Amino acid sequence: MSLSFQRLGEVHLPEILTWEKLCFAGEEWTHKMIQTHLEFHAAFGIGDQNIQCYALVCETPWEIEIFRIATLPNFRKLGLAKQLLEHLFKEFPKKEFFLEVNESNEPAIKLYLSVGFNELERRKKYYPDGSTAVLMKRNPIE
Ligand SMILES: CC(C)(COP(=O)(O)OP(=O)(O)OC[C@H]1O[C@@H](n2cnc3c(N)ncnc32)[C@H](O)[C@@H]1OP(=O)(O)O)[C@@H](O)C(=O)NCCC(=O)NCCS
Repeated sequence: MSLSFQRLGEVHLPEILTWEKLCFAGEEWTHKMIQTHLEFHAAFGIGDQNIQCYALVCETPWEIEIFRIATLPNFRKLGLAKQLLEHLFKEFPKKEFFLEVNESNEPAIKLYLSVGFNELERRKKYYPDGSTAVLMKRNPIE
């Protein structure tokens, strides 16, 4: 599979909306949230002919925060999310990366640990359903 990595823009808004519904059913971002995100922040995707994995990130002068990363259900466990993250580390080689993940999301936590994130702290009752968030950080390679 020959993969291409690309920055996504407003033209991808309808697709991102569809991906959100497929990947975060019941917790998907709305059209307005995605539109605002694309206006002020950044999005990236990876795939062969079509995007199969995407990430919504916030870039500041010092760090990158990953708000969302997801692989379309039919393309999971093929290494796509790992490759997308590796591309992001190359795109922003000097930046610290941060994210929050539900402590029950084992696939995501294993993914993040596999690419060099470490747990910083846990925040109890962080999510609306009362579940705990794990805050994770990855330092740039010196
Ligand atoms: C988490 C998610 C993005 C992983 O995407 P993916 O493309 O399937 O992940 P990869 O194939 O790149 O996996 C890389 C590593 O992550 C871990 N991993 C991924 N899926 C896993 C699973 N179902 N169970 C256990 N570990 C898993 C493994 O360590 C894997 O490495 P390995 O295959 O060598 O063991 C995907 O499951 C997803 O989209 N989930 C729904 C959305 C979500 O929860 N996003 C994260 C919070 S924003």
